[in-house]
Amino acid sequence: MPIIEHRTTLTQFLIEERRHHPEASGDFNSLILNVALACKSIAHSVAFGALGDMQGNAGGAINVQGETQKKMDVVSNDIFIQVNEWGGHLAGMASEEMADPYQIPDCYPKGKYLLVFDPLDGSSNIDVNVSVGSIFSVVRAPHGAKAVSEEDFFQPGMEQVAAGYAVYGPTTMLVLTVGKGVNAFTLDPNLGEFILTHTDMQIPPDTNEFAINASNSRFWEAPVKRYVDECLAGSTGPRGKDFNMRWIASMVAEAHRILMRGGVFLYPRDTKDPDRQGRLRLLYEANPIGFIIEQAGGRASTGRKPVLTVQPSSLHQRIGLVFGSKNEVDRIEAYHNEPAKVEMCAPLFNERSLFQIPL
Ligand code: AHG
Ligand code: MN
Ligand code: MN
Repeated sequence: MPIIEHRTTLTQFLIEERRHHPEASGDFNSLILNVALACKSIAHSVAFGALGDMQGNAGGAINVQGETQKKMDVVSNDIFIQVNEWGGHLAGMASEEMADPYQIPDCYPKGKYLLVFDPLDGSSNIDVNVSVGSIFSVVRAPHGAKAVSEEDFFQPGMEQVAAGYAVYGPTTMLVLTVGKGVNAFTLDPNLGEFILTHTDMQIPPDTNEFAINASNSRFWEAPVKRYVDECLAGSTGPRGKDFNMRWIASMVAEAHRILMRGGVFLYPRDTKDPDRQGRLRLLYEANPIGFIIEQAGGRASTGRKPVLTVQPSSLHQRIGLVFGSKNEVDRIEAYHNEPAKVEMCAPLFNERSLFQIPL
C-alpha cells in the first residue's frame, strides 16, 4: 500500500494553485512552506511538554505588550525568524514578541512580502496542556524589497494576500487562506507533512454557541451585555432558544472550533482599561483570523464595523473583535449601531420588541 494514498500534501496544493497563476515567481509558495516549517518546529517543541524544558516563564522577560513572556513565546518567535529570514521573499517581519519591525539581515536578499505573526497564541495555557497555536498574515511590502518601516505594516486586513494559523492540539493542523476559500491540513507526524484534510471550509450562519470571558462582564458596553443576557435567557428570552458557552482562552483554538462547527467569539472593546481599544491585537490576531473567518462565509467585526476595513495606526494596536457565524455577528453589530436609547434599556432580555429590530 502506498504511504500517502493519493493524499494532497501542502506542497502539492500550493504548486497546483500556482499553476493558475503562470506569472507567479514561486516566492509566495516558498514563504508559505517556510511558515509551515516554523509551525512544525513549534509543534515539535510544544509536544515535549514537561519533558522538553520548554515550560514556564522566560526568566521574567516582559514583552512590548507588558505581558510576561513564556519560554515558548520566545522560542516560537526565534523559530519564525530563523526559518523565514533567509528565503529572499520577505522585506521584513513583525511579531507580537518584538517591539519594532524585524529587518532582514544584509547577508540575505530581500523580497516583496511582509510577514506578521503571533508566534504562540494562548501561551498562558501552555503549561496546563491546553491547545495553543501560531497565527500569521502576509501582505505586500509597499516599497518592494527594501528595508521596512513600521508604517509599511499599517495596511487594512482586506489587503492581506494570505493568512493562516496552526493549532497545536490533539492533532497539529494548519489552516490557510490565500483569498479563495479556506483549506486545512493535518500534520502526519510520521511523514512530517501537512496533508489536505478539510477543503472549502464553511461556517454555518446560525449557531447556539458563544465564547466570551464573562469575568469582564462588569466592564462590557451595553450592546454586549444585551447580547449575552439574551443568550443566557435562552428559550425563555427573546432568542427563543438555549445557548451553550465556551471559553478556552486560546483564540486560535476558539477560531478553529468556530470554523469547524460554527459559533461566535467576542473579545469586545470594554471599559476595563480606557487606554485600550480591546484586548486582542489588530495586525497579527484580528486581521488574519478575520480574513480566514470571512473566507469561510462567516463574519469578523470590531463590534461596529468589519474588522478588515480598519486602517491600522500602530504595530501593536488593540481592537475589539467579534467573529464567527454570520447572523450572530450581524446581530451584535446591529446592537452596537442602534441608537443609544435602546442600549440603556434594562433588563434587556425582557423586551420582546428587541427581537424585531432589523439586522
Ligand atoms: P497571547 O497568548 O498571544 O498573548 O494571546 C492570548 C489572547 C487570546 O488567545 C485569548 O483569547 C485571550 O488572550 C485570553 O484572554 P483572557 O486572559 O482575558 O481570557
Ligand atoms: Mn495571541
Ligand atoms: Mn502570543
